[in-house]
Amino acid sequence: MIEIGDIDTCSIVIFGGTGDLATRMLLPSLYYLDRDGYLPARLRVIGAARHPMDDDAYRQTAYAKLREYIPDSEYDDAAWMRFADKLEYLPVDANKAEDFQALAKHLRITRQCELICYLSTAPKLYGMICRNLKKAGLVLPKTRVVLEKPIGHDLKSSRTINDAVSAIFAESNIFRIDHYLGKETVQNILALRFGNSIFEPLWNRANVDHVQITVAESVGAGGRWSYYNESGALRDMLQNHMLQLLTLIAMEPPREFDPDAVRNEKVKVLRSLRELKGRDVRDNAVRGQYAAGEVGGEPAPGYLQEEDAGADSRTETFVALRTYIDNWRWAGVPFYLRTGKRLAHRYSEVLIQFRQVPFSIFASSGVQPEKAGLQPNKLVIRLQPEENIKLLMMNKVPGLRQDGIELREVPLNLSLTEEFKRTRRRFAYERLFLDIIRHDTTLFVRRDEVEAAWSWADGILDTWKRSSSKPEPYAAGSWGPSSAFALIGGLGHTWHE
Ligand code: BG6
Repeated sequence: MIEIGDIDTCSIVIFGGTGDLATRMLLPSLYYLDRDGYLPARLRVIGAARHPMDDDAYRQTAYAKLREYIPDSEYDDAAWMRFADKLEYLPVDANKAEDFQALAKHLRITRQCELICYLSTAPKLYGMICRNLKKAGLVLPKTRVVLEKPIGHDLKSSRTINDAVSAIFAESNIFRIDHYLGKETVQNILALRFGNSIFEPLWNRANVDHVQITVAESVGAGGRWSYYNESGALRDMLQNHMLQLLTLIAMEPPREFDPDAVRNEKVKVLRSLRELKGRDVRDNAVRGQYAAGEVGGEPAPGYLQEEDAGADSRTETFVALRTYIDNWRWAGVPFYLRTGKRLAHRYSEVLIQFRQVPFSIFASSGVQPEKAGLQPNKLVIRLQPEENIKLLMMNKVPGLRQDGIELREVPLNLSLTEEFKRTRRRFAYERLFLDIIRHDTTLFVRRDEVEAAWSWADGILDTWKRSSSKPEPYAAGSWGPSSAFALIGGLGHTWHE
């Protein structure tokens, strides 16, 4: 890995440079990094897309989005002017080899230059862009390619894309983004597990009753309906972001925080996921689609009433499932995953529920612990929008009761928002850009991880495709279809909200 200080010249070409992700996330992240002195001194950022546009027009677009997406207090005019000077634009059609020749001429890079090609385009163009980069002589030892999700829509298509990219780039130069891995709170899962000694001895089937991972969104699919309708919640959120969270929760301790060590452990978890197919899907997975309702007191349209929506669709906007990790550490422990759009409110959370005490000393003998008011301990890791970690513990309610000890669940509450209130929470892409420049792939998804995740997801998707049933409707602003409650209730558990 290299230090930014050792890099003299670096060029970042963003294909799809006028798109939503580029202008809303990528350019503002680079602005922040540049403002805070994290980027190499001689930096060029080149937006590349099909539309004809000149540098100034591109800077104006970037400026308008920057002002829209960052708070006024973070805007610094001098810093923007410095950054804008590094911004350029070049019309490039991914299918035209001659446009890549023009790009090469424009870049004038040498073998010593760091070149980052960020592909924020439709994934079907990835192979073509890589081949055209090669033809134009732009694939040099220090050229990296960055791939946005989705990498395919199933195992087969992801292999086709990965094969095309791997024919041109070595795996060590391929950075597959899952922006959840750039989030502070997600990285904090590793800090919590491997920077503290108290949890690890309990982190196994002997002590953990079950795990819940929820990523709830209050927004709908409006605005990107066509994309979403081809994808659905399982492909859009679960196959990638949520399985990444699951790997961080379930993996064995890596020997060090290094790309191979960390990713070797993550892929083992993905390969140990119990396959869900056929009947197992019916018994362990629920899919839903939102109908009209109310979110945050405002009326919200149903999925089929969203802007640009089609007349009918079997795409799921909600999925809840129970899965198992068939290995020594986790055998028999249910992992519940739940995600959906237009739910009651936005939050992402991991809950580790520990086992109940074996016996209650607080009630007459023979009374079950739960009947005596005892709740199992829970570790709740809230990832967003608030960042906190709570350990729910049983405590004595103060007082002079004479008929015994009264207990209540009370949180041991660590508010990271409060504790680090002077530290700005960076966009996930800031961390990820810095790592791409430093050549560190630890927080990027390796090919075998993507394929293991697809291979598991395919079992569910194939079953749904063959089934005649439709996703269950749920009202916008609710917590999803009633079957999701039945699913978790089947083993006597309840969703933590
Ligand atoms: C994206 C999905 O990958 O993640 C979106 O395509 C989703 O549908 C988004 O809204 C959620 O990201 P975050 O960072 O807002 O939780």
